[in-house]
Amino acid sequence: MYSTPWMSDIVVGTMRWGLWDAKFTTAEYEAIIAHSMELGFTTFDHADIYGDHTTEAEFGAALKLHPEWRSQMELVTKCGIIRVCDQKPDHYVKAYDFTKAHILKSVDDSLTNLHTDYIDVLLLHRPDVLMDPDEIGEAFELLYQSGKVRSFGVSNFTPSQVKLLQTTVPVGVHQIEVSVKEVSAFDDGRLDQCMMDNIIPMAWSPLGGGALPEELMKTLTAMAAEFGVSPQVLAIAWLLQHPAGILPVTGTTRMERLTEVKEALNLQLDRQQWYTIYQASTGKSLP
Ligand SMILES: NC(=O)c1ccc[n+]([C@@H]2O[C@H](COP(=O)([O-])OP(=O)(O)OC[C@H]3O[C@@H](n4cnc5c(N)ncnc54)[C@H](OP(=O)(O)O)[C@@H]3O)[C@@H](O)[C@H]2O)c1
Repeated sequence: MYSTPWMSDIVVGTMRWGLWDAKFTTAEYEAIIAHSMELGFTTFDHADIYGDHTTEAEFGAALKLHPEWRSQMELVTKCGIIRVCDQKPDHYVKAYDFTKAHILKSVDDSLTNLHTDYIDVLLLHRPDVLMDPDEIGEAFELLYQSGKVRSFGVSNFTPSQVKLLQTTVPVGVHQIEVSVKEVSAFDDGRLDQCMMDNIIPMAWSPLGGGALPEELMKTLTAMAAEFGVSPQVLAIAWLLQHPAGILPVTGTTRMERLTEVKEALNLQLDRQQWYTIYQASTGKSLP
């Protein structure tokens, strides 16, 4: 059936590269993609909606200039959010849509925009209350058989929603919000399920979107100084320590920060160090 995807230890998020933040030129896309790949960060995380449906095409314009890159990178993208924006004049209210027609159309658009003929991993972006696992299963089978998508996963699902989808579809990836700032996935069953069912967990906003609470920053800064790294590197290392094999999706727009993130791959925390950060995050002592 569907293959389990291979992804790099650190995944590179593109959400902030375009209209929503950095507004990179094509040359800047080329530079940051090349830099990421030199670091060994070969997996890029997209969604159809990033930059109000413009970021995939901007990345694709850079990829078009370097067709040799495609076989050396993995492209993750997402579908299922109906977003109200200038680029989609027929969208009048936010909604989620996992109908077969929407999934198939969304993938065709992503393929065109990204200048590629396959997507490595397709994720359902946020759970559609009206999702029908049989219908999703049919869509995925068509996408797989046509070679347009190699593997599938979800994002922001509850464990029971993952189980529901697993009745028709092998779920290979679950992209969730988990970080030093957002720790609920550690004990609400999402990471347990990843481990039990061999689902690869990806962590979005692994630095909490860049703004961490002051008290937590104090703890991270003090411990980071002992390790000789930045607090952000320590925060990523802390996530990597979990046995589920979390893949942080870094959101930086700066090449020097991408370089720095790599240091997290070589940092080991012992249990007391790990729990010091955990307790600083929750603001509660362990029972
Ligand atoms: N599945 C979902 O629902 C979902 C939701 C949100 C995001 N995502 C994915 O997750 C990716 C990451 O999300 P995110 O951008 O919120 O992640 P993040 O890595 O937690 O935050 C990135 C932000 O932190 C800032 N930052 C400050 N200091 C930094 C440092 N030392 N190193 C790195 N960044 C630092 C960055 O600024 P600079 O750019 O100036 O470095 C950037 O604005 C997105 O690109 C997207 O692919 C998925």
